[in-house]
Amino acid sequence: MDLIIHGWIVRKRVHGGIVFLDLRTLEYPGEIIQAVFKEDIIGKEKLEEISKLPLETSIIIRGEKVRNPRLKIGFEILAKDYKITQKPLEEFPLGPKEHGVEAIMKYKHLSIRLPRYVKVWLIKEKVLKYFREWFEKNGWHEVTPPILVSSACEETTTLFEVGWFGNKAYLSQSAQLYLEAMIFSLGKVWSLTPSFRAEKSRTRRHLCEYWHLEWEAAWMGFEKLMKMIDEFVSYCIRRLLEDREARKIIEEFRGKDIKILELATETPYERVSYDEAIEILQKKGLDVKWGDDLGADEERELTLEFEKPIHLHHFPRIIKAFYMKVDRNRPETVLGTDLLLPEGYGEVIGAGEREDDYEILLQKIKEFGLNPKDYQWYLDLRKYGSVPHSGGGLGVERFVMWILKLPHIRETQPFPRLARDKRFI
Ligand code: 4AD
Ligand code: MG
Repeated sequence: MDLIIHGWIVRKRVHGGIVFLDLRTLEYPGEIIQAVFKEDIIGKEKLEEISKLPLETSIIIRGEKVRNPRLKIGFEILAKDYKITQKPLEEFPLGPKEHGVEAIMKYKHLSIRLPRYVKVWLIKEKVLKYFREWFEKNGWHEVTPPILVSSACEETTTLFEVGWFGNKAYLSQSAQLYLEAMIFSLGKVWSLTPSFRAEKSRTRRHLCEYWHLEWEAAWMGFEKLMKMIDEFVSYCIRRLLEDREARKIIEEFRGKDIKILELATETPYERVSYDEAIEILQKKGLDVKWGDDLGADEERELTLEFEKPIHLHHFPRIIKAFYMKVDRNRPETVLGTDLLLPEGYGEVIGAGEREDDYEILLQKIKEFGLNPKDYQWYLDLRKYGSVPHSGGGLGVERFVMWILKLPHIRETQPFPRLARDKRFI
């Protein structure tokens, strides 16, 4: 039976009187489909027309599906007929050759269709699918917190300010505070929202806008939280590796050796306390002392000591956010954990048990130089009865970056918002 494909020309070759078109298609996204045009089938005139088509012409092709074991996909289309949908007015600026970062960024709106990026989008879609699947299977409720907020969840220095009818509001850095309020309605909640950080630091792993997967649960203590993180992260990786389409893409990006991902399907993950981390880093010759915030370089060194993802836990209270629960046995530390990804990638999750005591929380809000008035509603969640609870947030782009071993986070977002860009489309 004949097959009909809708495609765009990515490459074109004329060889021995035969025209080969490589196409991105509606029917096989993420794959390149080869269509073969022969004179004895379509005639001289049409062959001539086909051979002259510019790249990115959109075309509908009817033809026979023919086995071709030399192609990755295993078949090609022997064209019998076609209809040109639209021809470009000008030459496509990102032809089949390799492109530098500058060209990719300048033509972001066009580069997102290059085969490499189509594959990244597909993996991102699947990552979200399998995370969602885990939450659904395990009785969590998806909720929809707002993006416009009145107070900071993380450092006030990274807040984006927006006007609110003559007053100030901010773009959300995290849905956490609202999720904490919603556990009293639904017990175990999660959300997927954009988060915003006015990050001036120009690193490989910071975007000003990213997709944030967050969760919060009542009666979930710190130990349970770490186990839950192991479970849902390893679940997603396992499902990606079981998914033929995803696995193929991952192997293409990482090379056949995906041992590091296979290891991450096994739990429990490593656990390294902040105290131990400082010791390990000092032994490696890094200039760090207890109380320092560990940045990308320190995280990198730490992950190179282990193969599995690492829970870096029990931080000094002064380097973590105000809402972290104070460890009652060691009040200079908090019940927080960051999940660090292997191979130098570092932090992908920030999580912890929340301070549920009204007085201690109020004290910490003041300690952090925040105005208790701005957090009255949040304090109310303790005033009117509370419950031990924990939660966390995962940066989707950072996760995708590691799964595909990408060098820069900008490759994981179709239209990345980067502090270095004065303007963006
Ligand atoms: O560690 P963070 O700041 O933690 C929170 O926002 C918590 N309130 C989350 C929660 O408990 N519900 O951010 C969580 C994760 C980080 O581990 C990182 O993966 C990602 O969000 N992230 C970023 N990703 C890309 N660009 C940025 N500028 C990011 N900032 C944080
Ligand atoms: Mg963090």
